[in-house]
Amino acid sequence: MAVQLADSHAHLDFHNFHKDLPEVLARARRAGVKLITNVGYDLKSSRRSLELAEEYPFIYAAVGIHPHEAAKVPRNYLEQLEEMAAHPKVVALGEMGLDFYRDRSPRDRQRVVFKEQLELAKKLKKPVIIHDRDAHLQVLTILLEEGAEEVGGVLHCFSGDEAMARQVIEMGFFISVAGPVTYPKNNKLNRIVAITPKDRILVETDCPFLTPVPFRGQRNEPSYVSKVAERVALLQGTTLEEAGRRCLENTCTLFQIDLEGL
Ligand code: NI
Repeated sequence: MAVQLADSHAHLDFHNFHKDLPEVLARARRAGVKLITNVGYDLKSSRRSLELAEEYPFIYAAVGIHPHEAAKVPRNYLEQLEEMAAHPKVVALGEMGLDFYRDRSPRDRQRVVFKEQLELAKKLKKPVIIHDRDAHLQVLTILLEEGAEEVGGVLHCFSGDEAMARQVIEMGFFISVAGPVTYPKNNKLNRIVAITPKDRILVETDCPFLTPVPFRGQRNEPSYVSKVAERVALLQGTTLEEAGRRCLENTCTLFQIDLEGL
């Protein structure tokens, strides 16, 4: 069986890819990447994600406002997101959430923009892509208060503890892991992968960031998602082919993409 993979979270619109995107995508295809979700972090990046999805059949888009950008959104940002989300290749809203590590937007503003986007996701019946950095309890509380399980979604680049993993899985969410799962001494995350049901785990690159071993120090790109899937396979006691295929199926389930059509 050939390796089949999905990169459930990429930022190919970043300037890092301006010069060689066609080559990057060709390498991804050769590595077995059947599907890439390009995730917006502000309005401009969301529009660019949509353009990429229109240009390449295997790219899908998510539109949303990253917590870093929460303080900068124009008043009508929700209308703009809603208008973009009407496109059939927009499969989710995000990324959205809270980042209390860098605090690039005031926390109150982050909370408001996160909640407003969850409301929009419920209105549009789209799953959500959640960014959570050093705000585990607050993210969990808002997901519960806002009834986010109605639409479900994924906690991307999961960094919470085992209890949080169990709780979000219980709520119907997926757990996604990126390059950090390949780093030495990441026992906490390794354990979380091992306890996550096989039908609830996704792999991603979050490229150009979070490059997996053995490419650390270089720009990350979708073809390297194979290194993340390899690690997941090892932790689940299965093969790369099986883990890769399973994560691809899970990505299609979450984003309601027809796997047969890929
Ligand atoms: Ni991201």
